[in-house]
Amino acid sequence: MNRKMMIAGNWKMNGLTAEGVSLAKEITDKVKAKKRTCEFVVCPPFTLLSLVKKALRGSKIALGAQDCHWAEKGAHTGDISPAMLRDLGCEYVILGHSERRADHKESSALIGKKVEAAHSFGLKTIVCVGETLEQRESGKTIDVCSKQVRESLPEGVKAANTVIAYEPVWAIGTGKTPTPQEVEEVHAAIRGVLTKKLGKSEADKMRILYGGSVKPSNAKEMLSLEDVDGALIGGASLKADDFIAISDNAGC
Ligand code: PGA
Repeated sequence: MNRKMMIAGNWKMNGLTAEGVSLAKEITDKVKAKKRTCEFVVCPPFTLLSLVKKALRGSKIALGAQDCHWAEKGAHTGDISPAMLRDLGCEYVILGHSERRADHKESSALIGKKVEAAHSFGLKTIVCVGETLEQRESGKTIDVCSKQVRESLPEGVKAANTVIAYEPVWAIGTGKTPTPQEVEEVHAAIRGVLTKKLGKSEADKMRILYGGSVKPSNAKEMLSLEDVDGALIGGASLKADDFIAISDNAGC
């Protein structure tokens, strides 16, 4: 199956104006310097979206946000709506990241509502799932991830508007990763859940990214797996050299 690889950077809550703009410019220059086959996405914090959008001008790098509300507008102090993200030129939004599931007690049902809203405003979604260390150690990884995929995706999602990211919680920012075999096992199981939910044709087209301590040195190993269609990168996306080296080393 010919799925276009995605290299997505999740900047999380990092970057003041000057460093955010210069990081985006550096990434833009490096991406433009060579012919590449993958799709790049950068997801800065809300405060930098407009400025990064400008810095990405003239490149094919897509802009993404890290969360959104499920309503179009209204009395939701502190929240940002999908319509607002579209208005700023975002193409993607990350939803259901484990840090939001943990810090903001977001349930899969809530995430599903956000996914639906994001799609209705023309955003594509990167929907994150992943098990905790305790769940892995008690053998529940596949069950947990399958349930999250089933419950976080509303009816009617398509490969054209949805990307899944498998991110084991214990691998995020820790330098620890599952073995390639363990990654492939979860990705294949997720593809199975998608097949049941969406049918084989959509499931085969939908990209499933791996995330959790991806860096230039493990990119080739992780991104050459059959069901791994790219990476969602946190820490290493804050250095343009590392972010681009991940794509170089993965051969995309
Ligand atoms: P990491 O984060 O690359 O720093 O482990 C990945 C993520 O949380 O998306």
